[in-house]
Amino acid sequence: MTLEDELRAQRQRAYAQRSPEERKVRAAAVTAVANAQTAERALREGEPIPRFRLPSIEGGLADAGLLLERGPLVISFYRGGWCPYCNIELRSLQRRLPDIEALGASLVAISPEMPDRTLMTVQSDALTFPVLFDEGNEVARQFRLTHQIDPRVVRYQLGNGNDVAAYNGMDTAEVPLPATYVVGTDGVVRYAFVDADYTRRADPDVLIGVLRDLPAERDATSGTVSAPASVTGAGTGAMSSEQITAEVLAAISRASGTRAGEILSAVIRHAHDLAREVRLQPGELLAAAGFLRRCGDISDAARHEYILLSDVLGLTMVVDTEAAGVADGALETSVLGPFYRAGAPWEPNGANISRGTGDGEQARIHGRVLDTSGTPVSGAMLDVWSTNGHGLYENVDPSQPDYNLRGRFRSAADGSYDLWTVKPVSYPIPDDGPVGELLAVTGRHNMRPAHFHVIAAAEGYQSVVTELYTDDDPYLGSDAVFGVKPSLVVHYNHIDDSEALAAVGRSEPYWDLEYDFVLTPGHASSAGFSAGRRQAV
Ligand code: BEZ
Ligand code: FE
Repeated sequence: MTLEDELRAQRQRAYAQRSPEERKVRAAAVTAVANAQTAERALREGEPIPRFRLPSIEGGLADAGLLLERGPLVISFYRGGWCPYCNIELRSLQRRLPDIEALGASLVAISPEMPDRTLMTVQSDALTFPVLFDEGNEVARQFRLTHQIDPRVVRYQLGNGNDVAAYNGMDTAEVPLPATYVVGTDGVVRYAFVDADYTRRADPDVLIGVLRDLPAERDATSGTVSAPASVTGAGTGAMSSEQITAEVLAAISRASGTRAGEILSAVIRHAHDLAREVRLQPGELLAAAGFLRRCGDISDAARHEYILLSDVLGLTMVVDTEAAGVADGALETSVLGPFYRAGAPWEPNGANISRGTGDGEQARIHGRVLDTSGTPVSGAMLDVWSTNGHGLYENVDPSQPDYNLRGRFRSAADGSYDLWTVKPVSYPIPDDGPVGELLAVTGRHNMRPAHFHVIAAAEGYQSVVTELYTDDDPYLGSDAVFGVKPSLVVHYNHIDDSEALAAVGRSEPYWDLEYDFVLTPGHASSAGFSAGRRQAV
């Protein structure tokens, strides 16, 4: 059983024991820690560690400088013996202690728990490596790891009989983010594992892989070219794939601290884990590479198969939704799609952007642009577009006038806007390339439910790229690109009453949609949305 297997089992146990409310509170607390970016700001690869001296529970002082004179150092910060994930991790480190020591390294664990509590952990987990008392989290603070446990979580912990503040002899429940470091003999961090989610821990195999590569790194800096220790046979057993992962991560460690390094190391970790999880076969890796090559082959200035792939895998929606940070009750984001064209004509309120013949069923879309407190936002831009009634955008249908069914509108002083267009219809996304194969293999159709595209932007508010989805569409529950969110589903009323028609100066029936766009305060920019990644076609 791997450490991750044990952690997963503990996660499942904890989940089963908790009420829906507690699950929600705890998930929100982890999200808040992630949003605070504490893990990203913690001491990382390439930085020297603070030279701490801390009392060990067995007596005596552990001095980081002295330990490093003997060899590399593995440091595990844990929250306390009350944390089951910490105990699982400490026990797994204990099991691998012989491998760590065989590589000339030392291992220490650090927590803010008072010595009497720490002693209980040492005894119950039968730990033989030094476990250090970090009074008041002073050392954890120097590693930039400290944070306060959410007060609502503290209440649940107290209910379970765990008073973390008291265990630590502190006034508040301040703890380190669980973190594991591998430090070279020069005192520089070679590997850092810090995660906002306290249930995630470093895999001892990865730590051991990094330790194996340290001597090779020293040879390289002194000018001697040598293969990694793991390749030269420093170990006796066969090399594990986890060791390869550690080697690859170490190879890019110079990029640590940069955004590229952060993203690339996550890509490597997740891709390697994926290969292990599904036991990816060499032929399958080649097939995947062939699929990506065909995505490239079919792409050109007007068609971007990789973005379509991201769309049908839901990745575009995840990225846009995470980047948006929309306030509760405010306009949510949806996919931009490849059919956006910048520079649509500005139109006065009340204008009809259906400029073709036989475009479809006429529709009036009107309402207000508001802020989250309900105050009208004047001068907001609404850049809108949709297909005609045959499901075709004007830029792929030569029979339509230029910029047909596209326009830009400004909200009036009272926040109101008003435009005429056609009632949207569902239409297919391209399925004649590799993305179409993927849809077919997974038994999915290629239809998008009827929708009306909008980019809403105003000074002092977050710009939103979104779509309004028609509530009577058969594909609403199975959008090929996962763009539908409940708050974006709208109802068009059919207006055929002669008085109502006369009120808008019409004789033919039409569809009426009244919708208020609620904007989130912030910067007016589409950065972070897929908008910036699209080519106008
Ligand atoms: C669209 O709505 O225009 C669209 C979105 C994603 C993929 C293809 C089309
Ligand atoms: Fe569309």
